[in-house]
Amino acid sequence: MTAILARVPATESQPIPLFDLKRQQTRLRHDIDRRIARVLDHGQFILGPEVTELETELAAFAGVKHSIGVSSGRDALIMALMAMGVGPGDAVLVPAFTFSATAAVVISVGATPVFVDVDIVTYNMDADAIGPAVADAKSRGLTPRAVMPVDLFGRPADYVALKAAADEHGLPLIADAAQSFGASTAGGRVGALAPITCVSFYPTKPLGAFGDGGGILTDDDDLASAVRQIRTHGRQGDGDEAMRIGMTGRLDTIQAAILLSKLSVFKAELNRRAEIAAIYDSRLEGVCGLPPVDVAETRSAWALYTIRVPDRDRVRAALASRDIGTALFYRVPLHRHPAFKGLLSGNERLDVAERLSNEVLSLPMGPDLTDEEADFVADALIASL
Ligand SMILES: Cc1ncc(COP(=O)(O)O)c(C=O)c1O
Repeated sequence: MTAILARVPATESQPIPLFDLKRQQTRLRHDIDRRIARVLDHGQFILGPEVTELETELAAFAGVKHSIGVSSGRDALIMALMAMGVGPGDAVLVPAFTFSATAAVVISVGATPVFVDVDIVTYNMDADAIGPAVADAKSRGLTPRAVMPVDLFGRPADYVALKAAADEHGLPLIADAAQSFGASTAGGRVGALAPITCVSFYPTKPLGAFGDGGGILTDDDDLASAVRQIRTHGRQGDGDEAMRIGMTGRLDTIQAAILLSKLSVFKAELNRRAEIAAIYDSRLEGVCGLPPVDVAETRSAWALYTIRVPDRDRVRAALASRDIGTALFYRVPLHRHPAFKGLLSGNERLDVAERLSNEVLSLPMGPDLTDEEADFVADALIASL
């Protein structure tokens, strides 16, 4: 077990929440207090020095040229779409099994999300489904403009296969990496796997702030400079003129200060998350459907450990009766959300998204979970089955 982490014994009486942010805060509280005090002292609450420092560190971590701190994961996606000029009449391909924001951002810029099915093993966008989705979009009079894969639960999508499929139609990838900062593949770390990558620092994400926050990572100078303008009302540097339509899309300095503290232990936390996943892997093999294991080239950020069980509600109730927190990410595939009603052409095959939404169950995950607690969760799950 990683040394920086406090050991807390698991007992029948101690609840095990899905996420436990309190233990991490206890570990880092002194450093975070110190960093917040520094921001209060210098008073540069908007784009202060901590934002620049964090941007530099995140770019180095991911191995990309540019990192831009923004207000949330959702705003990062909107700004990426705006920077790429996606708008009315355009289509953006999104997986049907993800958080609602992935499709909502496309509608926010006036374009149309086209739902693509996912892979039953990785839960991520199925590259083979891109061709039919592009044809479907065109048959509806839309102009396909981008493919937006999601790295669900922290596991990177298959960017090699997705890029090959998207390239056939001349479409760029926009990575919705809201859940996966810190993950890596043979092609590099998340941030370097697509022309533009959007991450979230929502508190429960692997790298989470104490409020909303997000980031955009790219090697493209033009996209980076467009996003920097967009996040500050379309202004260039200190200029007064709006060079383009922008928004209030900056990462707060205080959140950047908190993220710098969390980044200092992030690698150890990622390793610890992988250790917890390995405990679940070994205990639950053959018991239920498991997420793909980490291999040398592909390492998840383990935002969540999500299994598949057909009799999910009963299992969930059994775990709840032992004070184990679980969640249903995602209970409803995107094309069934009321907000996205009317977007289907009728040609889509979204069978895997449908199936997953009926079977998935996310288990407690986090860097402060103890081995004993992971075992306790596994025992309870096995008993319930
Ligand atoms: C896949 C995905 N995309 C986008 C978002 C939006 O991120 P945020 O909550 O930071 O706006 C989330 C957040 O949970 C997400 O999981």
